[in-house]
Amino acid sequence: MDTQAYSKISNAALIQELYRRYRCQEEALRKRIVLLGMPGAGKGTHSAKMLARFCMCHLSTGDLLREEVRSGSEFGKKLKGIMERGELIEDEVMCNLIKQQLAKPACANGAILDGFPRTIPQAEKLDQILKQSGQSIDQAIFMNVREQVVVDRLGGRWTHLNSGRTYHYKFNPPKVHGVDDITGEPLVQREDDKEATIRNRLNVYQNKTSPIIDYYRKKGILFEVNAERPVNDIWKDIKTIVKTK
Ligand code: AP5
Ligand code: MG
Repeated sequence: MDTQAYSKISNAALIQELYRRYRCQEEALRKRIVLLGMPGAGKGTHSAKMLARFCMCHLSTGDLLREEVRSGSEFGKKLKGIMERGELIEDEVMCNLIKQQLAKPACANGAILDGFPRTIPQAEKLDQILKQSGQSIDQAIFMNVREQVVVDRLGGRWTHLNSGRTYHYKFNPPKVHGVDDITGEPLVQREDDKEATIRNRLNVYQNKTSPIIDYYRKKGILFEVNAERPVNDIWKDIKTIVKTK
């Protein structure tokens, strides 16, 4: 047991994770689910709920890349500039990253893919990677929301860096201002949540990512939810979809 690594995690976070693993033993659906939608659609917010409810790993490529940036590595320095401009990282880099992550034991009971794939070549490569182990994407959930809504959401977002948990100062505030509910650690604003970068992220989404919606529609595995409603209403729909065979 790596006690050094565990010592960095708060008791509250550890107990919550133990409880989640115990409870979700009965809920192992063994599905691979892609969450699709514009920046700010609520992919991270609902991934956290899915993680707490079902036995799946949460693969947020944005969180993984931000972790690399925080490590201060040479690779992280290259990523930082691209992400702060709201551009996409190369497909090959992203596909290698997701392949490594999917092979981890935590993903054996299923995976929530949040922020991947983001281009058609990434979607095609993901299918190839999964096929090698006899798997496939079971469902793609498209969180549909208008641009004007996400601009407001991203401008007020606060993030807990270690877990990726997100809050909104108005729509989803933490119990104590500026502090994560579970760990008590400080919340920060993301570098790419500035208005000019948000606009570029939305352009990139329209040009490169939105064609993926049709990619999954043609496969007959696309489920659409209206993501402009309150979080609890959206969550009810997502739970129903995930439990659908
Ligand atoms: P990433 O981290 O994936 O960012 P994103 O797609 O831009 O999405 P966000 O995290 O901004 O939005 P979200 O849908 O998770 O919304 P959230 O739940 O937080 O990627 C960042 C960067 O990494 C990319 O720009 C790119 O450079 C790079 N990258 C990542 N993956 C890549 C890939 N595959 N290929 C290439 N490059 C890649 O919610 C937003 C806010 O709204 C929160 O404050 C939340 O509290 C609030 N909120 C959520 N739902 C509601 C609701 N229903 N009502 C009111 N408020 C709500
Ligand atoms: Mg996110």
